[in-house]
Amino acid sequence: MSERILCIFFVQMVNFKRFLKEIMSKIKKIGVYTSGGDAPGMNAALRAIVRTAAYNSVEVLGIQHGYNGMIKGDFVPMGPRSVSNIIQRGGTILKTARSSEFMTREGRAKAAANLKAQGIDGLVAIGGNGTFQGATLLHDEHAIPTVGVPGTIDNDLYGTDFTVGYDTAINTAVESIDKIRDTADAHDRVFYVEVMGRDSGFIALDVGIAGGAEYIAIPEIEENFEAIRQKLTTGGRQRSSIVVIAEGSFNGGAVDLARRMSEFVHLHYRVTVLGHIQRGGSPSARDRVLAAKLGSAAVEGLLHGETNVMAGEINGKVVMTPMRDTWEKKKGVDNSLVQLSQILSI
Ligand code: F6P
Repeated sequence: MSERILCIFFVQMVNFKRFLKEIMSKIKKIGVYTSGGDAPGMNAALRAIVRTAAYNSVEVLGIQHGYNGMIKGDFVPMGPRSVSNIIQRGGTILKTARSSEFMTREGRAKAAANLKAQGIDGLVAIGGNGTFQGATLLHDEHAIPTVGVPGTIDNDLYGTDFTVGYDTAINTAVESIDKIRDTADAHDRVFYVEVMGRDSGFIALDVGIAGGAEYIAIPEIEENFEAIRQKLTTGGRQRSSIVVIAEGSFNGGAVDLARRMSEFVHLHYRVTVLGHIQRGGSPSARDRVLAAKLGSAAVEGLLHGETNVMAGEINGKVVMTPMRDTWEKKKGVDNSLVQLSQILSI
């Protein structure tokens, strides 16, 4: 009996807290958008945002095609059912874009005017460093409360251990490398596999270690042609090898590196650029859970007065980091992993 009373009391408390939050929050309507490179799990984040908002009686407008849609007024109302059956889908149902117009003061003024005309009190931005640079400027110039959700396969945002999409992308790449290894071994060939990461080596490093690469080249470490040559030729090596290179690590990319290396390494070689395959596909369970957690936290954050921050996860806990820091500060790769990869590829 007493347990029942406790239970009823608890439910009433939760309802009362929700009621208080509703009447006290200035946020009655929010806009949500995905911007920049899409990442698996963006839809799962969107679902969490829309449903957390609905739970708190907050209206949601989806802004389509990222900042371009904000400038054009491309808005669509969203309710809990409009995000049904998307948790498992890659890409983003809101569409995304890289917007050059938004990088101008005039573009941002147009976007802000549209948001105000729609009665939007706050924004949730899902994306990477370009998205958050835009959000910072929009906030600084037009004082629109914004909370970010880290969504990029690159994992290069300061303020979160992992970004939504990263886990799926590295698993996709490792699966491809396992397949490449079979054919590389069958022919005794060297494969140069280029993975994404224009400015950061998170993908290359994890994928290289998980895929057992002989050498991993990342933008954080100065390019070293000689080190690769040595690795591929030491001890009259006459067997297959895999070199993983991040797209930003060698001037000219994997194709050029392979061509130059072929003068010294007398094994047949092939180049595989994994490219946008890494961006697609159904999000992993880990990405879905992270997206759910951070999407929901972003809305709760807005309701509690957070602004101009990103909701990230550090050591399993949700942490709000100033938006500017997420793209201005550099999240470094784990140097011990670099060392480990050198030891294991002996
Ligand atoms: O930022 C995500 C990312 O996939 C990078 O790894 C890559 O360099 C870039 O986007 C590719 O962008 P786009 O799809 O515009 O060619």
